Amino acid sequence: MGKRWLVEKRRDYYYRKAKLEKYRSRAAYKLLQLNRHFKILKAGDRVLELGAAPGGWTQAAREIVGDSGFVVGVDLQRIEPLSYDNVVFIKGDFTSPEVREKLKEIIASCEAVISDASPDISGVWSIDHARSVELCEEALSIAEEHLSPGGAFLVKVFQGDLIKEFVEKVKRSFSFVKLSKPKASRSESAEIYLVAKGFSPVKKGEVYEAVVQDVSRRGEGIAYIAGVKVFVKGASKGERLKVKIKALKRGFAEAEPIAG
Ligand SMILES: C[S@@+](CC[C@H](N)C(=O)[O-])C[C@H]1O[C@@H](n2cnc3c(N)ncnc32)[C@H](O)[C@@H]1O
Repeated sequence: MGKRWLVEKRRDYYYRKAKLEKYRSRAAYKLLQLNRHFKILKAGDRVLELGAAPGGWTQAAREIVGDSGFVVGVDLQRIEPLSYDNVVFIKGDFTSPEVREKLKEIIASCEAVISDASPDISGVWSIDHARSVELCEEALSIAEEHLSPGGAFLVKVFQGDLIKEFVEKVKRSFSFVKLSKPKASRSESAEIYLVAKGFSPVKKGEVYEAVVQDVSRRGEGIAYIAGVKVFVKGASKGERLKVKIKALKRGFAEAEPIAG
């Protein structure tokens, strides 16, 4: 590592703050700032963290979820344990089937999946961007597998032209999606964070079989698909039909009947 880099690092406000406040990384402040703004984690949450070494985010997440929560952190590198019963670290590649199986055993369902994972940096913007989006795609697939309805997803992505498509993909499963750069993230860094809330196991744009169990005051059919309350336009009680999800809202979805 170059001398200039080291000097800059020492001068860095968040680096010094992290040393002082005993966080393992300056990155801890990125999670704390994003959480203050977006309320991603709360007391009692079970959290699955991807790309957790050296553990700064884990410390911050543990602080927020408290004694009644649970944090599982995964990284390619070994992480020095934290002295809490409800924090577990796994060494491994979260894109591998073995680690994904292990995660299902340890934390089958959770309220939040957070990822600060970075690919190995090549220095070529387009390559690093593409690798970062690949990690995000994997993180999204893990989120969709583990999150309970209403759950949250936070993921770091290096900026570039593939983000737009990724954001659209996330919007199919979450009612709230925003890109944000916290103050603790260096302005010259390509990283940005995608915050998604209100996970829905039924996806926007997908077609499902539904049985209308009730009718709302506004005259829409009410069906439950994968535990999600779905309002179906123009459907009557008792009807069995195919519906397409048109919109995800906080705590429910809106759908339209489709022919066939
Ligand atoms: C920026 S660091 C995370 C810092 C952490 N949030 C903190 O506050 O201490 C990114 C991490 O992602 C990890 N990573 C990248 N790809 C991974 C993968 N496929 N599986 C597990 N960890 C991965 C790297 O090993 C690296 O430790």
